Amino acid sequence: MSPIGVFDSGYGGLTILREIRRRLPQYDYLYLGDNARAPYGTRSFDVVYDFTLQAVRRLFDEGCPLVILACNTASAKALRSIQQRDLPHIDPTRRVLGVIIPTVEALDDISSTRHVGVVATPGTINSHSYAIETAKLYPDISMAEVACPMWVPLIENNEAAGDGADYFVKKYCDEMLAKDPEIDTLLLGCTHYPLLMEKIRAYMPSDIRILPQGELVAESLADYLRRHPEMETRLSKTGEARYLTTENPEKFDTLATLFLDTPVASTRIHLD
Ligand code: DGL
Repeated sequence: MSPIGVFDSGYGGLTILREIRRRLPQYDYLYLGDNARAPYGTRSFDVVYDFTLQAVRRLFDEGCPLVILACNTASAKALRSIQQRDLPHIDPTRRVLGVIIPTVEALDDISSTRHVGVVATPGTINSHSYAIETAKLYPDISMAEVACPMWVPLIENNEAAGDGADYFVKKYCDEMLAKDPEIDTLLLGCTHYPLLMEKIRAYMPSDIRILPQGELVAESLADYLRRHPEMETRLSKTGEARYLTTENPEKFDTLATLFLDTPVASTRIHLD
């Protein structure tokens, strides 16, 4: 088997996997959630880089020729170093792709006020990756950034639908509207956040579009595979998905089922 590897600190990458499988059902997928060490969003640059590299190596060892970092925090803090510094030594024929550039690329067609907001983990926001990449591609778009440190812990603890979540969803939505009242698009720059969609929708004005990344990343991957037949032909195609977690597999399976709406049976692994 030569599956496409999909990595996230926890469950969030499942929102990306779900859309990728919907768009590209023919391939095999191997998902790895580093749930035992999640969340990554408040960890330092070096730690996120070390953990992400361990995960990528593991997915390579499992036979993945291509790995998607379905985590904005890892994409912001580790992707460039892994692509430029590590891949040439590990195996120059394999590829690691992230989620930030495919998301930013889609903004041109989406925003008419040219004011976009991004909500993400403190790690992603402090890296300013969204603002930097947007300024490179579309200098006329202004990007307002708000860190939401409490959202991932709420989701990882299965509290996304609970009453307690309302307080923190409203808090960061209000912060965004105060920062830039002209935004017409709110980008969910963390793969966990689609699980809070209903509540975010309730606290944002109805004319602001809320944009999750899954479909954008799936479309960009489809385009990448069209442009890279040398990679496409290496991938196995039986339509299977397997799941690895660094936490208790029963716990993973219960919450993963919420993200995917389909039963999941994971295997526990250790990363180092
Ligand atoms: N889901 C991840 C992201 O997209 C990170 C969540 C976390 O571990 O803090 O940023």
